[in-house]
Amino acid sequence: MNTIHLKAPKGWINDPNGFIYYKGKYHLFYQHFPYASRWGRMHWGHAVSDDLINWKHLDIALFPTKTDDSDGCFSGSAVEDNGKMHLFYTGVHYTDIDPENVNCSLNDSFISAQLHISSNDGFEFDNFNEKKTIIPPLTNREIGDNIHTRDPKVWKGKDGNWYMILGSTVNHVGRVLFYRSSDLLNWKYMNYASCDNMGWMWECPDYFETDSRGVIIFSPMDEKKGNQSVCTLADFRESDCHMDINKNLTYLDYGLDLYAPQSTTDKNGRRIVVAWLRMPEPMKNNAIGLFSMPRVCEVRNNHIYFRPYPEISEKFTIKTDMPDMKKPFMVKAELAEHKSISIGGYIIRRENGKIITDRRAVIKGHEELLNICETPELKDGFSLEIYVDENIIEVYVNNGEYVITNAVYDLNDEISTDENTEIYVLEE
Ligand code: FRU
Repeated sequence: MNTIHLKAPKGWINDPNGFIYYKGKYHLFYQHFPYASRWGRMHWGHAVSDDLINWKHLDIALFPTKTDDSDGCFSGSAVEDNGKMHLFYTGVHYTDIDPENVNCSLNDSFISAQLHISSNDGFEFDNFNEKKTIIPPLTNREIGDNIHTRDPKVWKGKDGNWYMILGSTVNHVGRVLFYRSSDLLNWKYMNYASCDNMGWMWECPDYFETDSRGVIIFSPMDEKKGNQSVCTLADFRESDCHMDINKNLTYLDYGLDLYAPQSTTDKNGRRIVVAWLRMPEPMKNNAIGLFSMPRVCEVRNNHIYFRPYPEISEKFTIKTDMPDMKKPFMVKAELAEHKSISIGGYIIRRENGKIITDRRAVIKGHEELLNICETPELKDGFSLEIYVDENIIEVYVNNGEYVITNAVYDLNDEISTDENTEIYVLEE
């Protein structure tokens, strides 16, 4: 069992995969290298939850068995159809293997195909007999790349067809590809979408509608800006899979530690998103990687909000002055201009109409990282809801107008706040 934040059980984890509410449980799969706290030949780890608060780790769900996924089961998604769970993922086959670490290829020498596997109950996956390649490595370089085409996200369209969005690249410009299927197994390439100056390859794209607006989230790889997850409004037309992407992109999270987010709908039909927290070093259990809390994604006044998941917020009911720093707690604060609070050495202050965070004291030896972060200028107030756990702090500003999330290590026992601050711990 884990609380609030799903953490790597051992080894390494990255992207959330196959996030779905299925037969009364939330399933969250994830990129996983179980043998060491570093990235390697990818498996799909698997955890389930009844409430998105308490998680149970299960056995590994997907692992390499076929030529097309011999060197990794990369990211992908899940849908339910006729009671079955259908998983879509990218199979990777190395063409040149690193002789010193066979879990990695040399200089991106691999090819990528898209695969499908289904399960009758969401717990048993027949890796030997049930996998099928549904999109072989691309051969038309004007459509997409045979190496860098990955991370299928599938959804059901209003017309009853299934749609898939894939990340790709052509001529060093990132793009998304759209495929359509009527039966989840036979897929036809339909169209692509892109926009200028947004990185050379787009990882982990996700498209959905919320509040009657289309939203696209993706993670552009960019040599100058680094790889960061962005979101924006988008209009998708099913008839020809044409997408207009609004150029006004914002970061999913202004801490810039979160990456590769994935969304699903919760049991109440709300659009929720989780993302991988990139960590510079392992946690106390020697494993590396954890996930953000689920966030509710909403669009209001053309702005994309990521607010704390209400069923989690409402569990923080017990007021205290001295929380146990090893357990999750939540701080509510209203910050006046030039004022700051400190949580275990992590500083949050308001300056020039922005919220600024400073984690230098709780991530020692990592000067190379972005350790001082800020929101864009705020117009609607400065109320904060801050969720603190051993290795992660999530600062929600104005109920999700912006969020800053950071990896932290060794928080100290001191909390300095002011009279406008309240601290809550979880009810038993
Ligand atoms: C994003 C990513 C995905 C890929 C996976 C491999 O972090 O690079 O594009 O499927 O991780 O682990």
